[in-house]
Amino acid sequence: MRKIVFGDNLAVLAGLDTASVDLIYVDPPFNTGKRQERQQIKTVHDEAAGDRTGFAGRSYRTIRLGKSGYEDAFDDFMGFLAPRFEQAHRVLTDTGSFFCHIDYREVHYCKVLLDQIFGRDSFMNEIIWAYDYGARSKQKWSTKHDNILWYAKNPNDYTFNFEEMDRIPYMAPGLVGKEKAARGKTPTDVWWHTIVSPNGKEKTGYATQKPLGVLERIVKIHSNPGDLLLDFFAGSGTLGQAAAKHNRNYILIDNNPQAIQTMTTRLTPTNPTLIGCETLHTETDESPTTLETETHF
Ligand SMILES: C[S@@+](CC[C@H](N)C(=O)[O-])C[C@H]1O[C@@H](n2cnc3c(N)ncnc32)[C@H](O)[C@@H]1O
Repeated sequence: MRKIVFGDNLAVLAGLDTASVDLIYVDPPFNTGKRQERQQIKTVHDEAAGDRTGFAGRSYRTIRLGKSGYEDAFDDFMGFLAPRFEQAHRVLTDTGSFFCHIDYREVHYCKVLLDQIFGRDSFMNEIIWAYDYGARSKQKWSTKHDNILWYAKNPNDYTFNFEEMDRIPYMAPGLVGKEKAARGKTPTDVWWHTIVSPNGKEKTGYATQKPLGVLERIVKIHSNPGDLLLDFFAGSGTLGQAAAKHNRNYILIDNNPQAIQTMTTRLTPTNPTLIGCETLHTETDESPTTLETETHF
């Protein structure tokens, strides 16, 4: 079962069966008070009127294709999230897990809210995703991380495939011996992972797209092949891509037509059923070759 659903997530969640979803990952808008926007551009080779220099010193002219984005400002962010998180708790299976990806400004409020909904005992980890990209502040420590809160519905019985963990290099391989150094070590609750490269293949052009590598780690460790995974703030559909890559099913929900368009294009090879999307125009005129970032990264 692979589904992309266009609509407000609260209404869609209310229609899902109780205890039917094995893993939920959400990355809600961060309440930055800003519109999250990304300018899409295309570059064409033009030695006479080029405004950019590319490979081998060739000149390229920039054509602006338009902007994609969504509003990211709420008067009452926790009031918005609470009923959605309550639904998340209801639809999770008994061995299921909930991951909430949020930023340093909102994480403490989310922790308090989720403790109330799941119970403090169900709080398992706060994962720090550290990315170290972009400009440095001269006024304060540069903020280069997001927070991912993990809650298990039942803290005594939950899916955790330790053997599926990828290995990372030791910081001081000389201290652990050759064999251990070659095998690497398991990650901790601090995950170093680069952001989606502004010019890389992974880039969809959707504002706030999260790296596939981070999502794959969550999917592999916290679910099993054949499981049903849910992201009800799905954006560009990164969770769906990670799920399909590891033979899981998914339900992706978003209320932004541009998100639906992006994830439909991205996930067509995984054969999703589109729900509520009949009124949307899903054709793209041209694929952008380069993208400029204007988000909070
Ligand atoms: C931070 S983005 C998610 C990005 C995603 N993790 C990715 O990798 O592309 C948050 C998404 O939540 C969506 N959203 C906000 N409010 C919503 C609502 N009430 N129902 C459904 N989607 C909503 C926005 O349209 C946006 O696409």
